[in-house]
Amino acid sequence: MSDSVKLSYNDQTFEFPLIEGTENEKGIDIKSLRSSTGLITYDPGFKNTGSCKSGVTFLNGEDGILRYRGYSIEDLCEKSSFIEVAFLLIFGELPTKEELKLFNNEIENDSLVDEDLKMILKSFPKSAHPMGVLSSLTSALIAFNPSSVDIDSEADMREAIIMLMAKFPILASWTHRKVKGLPLNYANTSLSYVENIAHMMFKRPHQDYNPSQVVVNAINKLLILHADHEQNCSTSTVRIVGSSQAGLFASVSAGISALWGPLHGGANQAVIEMLVAIQKDGGDTKKYMEKAKDKNDPFRLMGFGHRVYKNFDPRARIIKKAADEVLSEMGINDPILEIAKALEKEALSDSYFIDRKLYPNVDFYSGIIYRALGIPTEMFTVMFALGRLPGWIAQWLEMRKNNEPIGRPRQIYTGNTHRSL
Ligand code: ACO
Repeated sequence: MSDSVKLSYNDQTFEFPLIEGTENEKGIDIKSLRSSTGLITYDPGFKNTGSCKSGVTFLNGEDGILRYRGYSIEDLCEKSSFIEVAFLLIFGELPTKEELKLFNNEIENDSLVDEDLKMILKSFPKSAHPMGVLSSLTSALIAFNPSSVDIDSEADMREAIIMLMAKFPILASWTHRKVKGLPLNYANTSLSYVENIAHMMFKRPHQDYNPSQVVVNAINKLLILHADHEQNCSTSTVRIVGSSQAGLFASVSAGISALWGPLHGGANQAVIEMLVAIQKDGGDTKKYMEKAKDKNDPFRLMGFGHRVYKNFDPRARIIKKAADEVLSEMGINDPILEIAKALEKEALSDSYFIDRKLYPNVDFYSGIIYRALGIPTEMFTVMFALGRLPGWIAQWLEMRKNNEPIGRPRQIYTGNTHRSL
């Protein structure tokens, strides 16, 4: 088999090497394309463009495979805690007992934020979307922790990672408590990382809060399933912002903004809003199926389709099962679940969806669980961000360690040619 690709242009032939990953994915190395041919590639949405080499996450959209550092998400969801998976993504291996204990202790010790951050939070209106607030507070962390990180210093990097892993759940839960008018609280050191997320979000000052194991397990799975997804929109944002050598917190803050959009992480909120709207409109799922297929109608079936998964989303399979478990254990009979099931059934047998390989994605079901757990709709994408944090850190770290050049795509200019004033 050839190890290069030839391109003919203007009676000349140019040769470009093939590169191959450990899972036999092949790509054409076009680093010298412009200098040798004067041409650039045109690939809106980067549907065919590899932006980096990465050893963090392997994803095969055709076969529905997702692995972190070689481990399948099915195994990780079954046997690991979110904090172990975070360690795996960031440091490359699952932690030993001692490493896990140290990691947890370090996070516990850093689980505080400067009290002055509360003044920033206070200045937001109560109606502010939690994702906007979270992005701003994450950015503000830089001002309160200004020391620059030496990427070559393991101690510096570890400190920055611990700081973010420890402080991010506090900021996330405060965005929720602000909306609810609850006093701002801190972690309870006797609880695990995931238990603390639930505790910090939902604990009311006058009541004990003991989340059930079902709730903790469901959050654990959801966070693991969202922990990384190779070069998606928010992760590419984190890497590209970091490629200018902006710091980790600034890069993650930008990633939060990218995640917010309804075509990415915001889809979990959009799914529930869509299901509620269909219910209010009489529950006619067929009407909405027709709207989704109508090219003159901007309506899309939220929670369906994926840029990479073209057979099924493996995360959706796991989360669908978890949703069934949570709803039956909590004895919840949610009418919008019936609408979700009807839409899913119709879409899976409809030629429009079959031909375009549109299947339910992870966010079709995650919102149903969050809703069952009593998490407000506008907090869903914040939950996603909590899960994605270790992935963003791991990808940022890899990008900096590989000394990747600053991200700077080209364009085909289509504006006015030179004109005189
Ligand atoms: N409803 C109806 N039609 C759809 C949908 C949908 N949800 N998704 C894609 N299509 C159609 C498009 O109109 C297009 O049709 P055409 O070929 O006739 O023009 C075709 O399917 C291909 O769609 P693209 O938008 O080109 O696919 P792309 O890979 O760019 O987009 C995306 C993927 C953004 C996820 C899209 O499927 C979508 O908008 N889905 C709904 C939003 C959603 O659920 N996002 C969450 C993704 S998962 C995550 O981020 C964690």
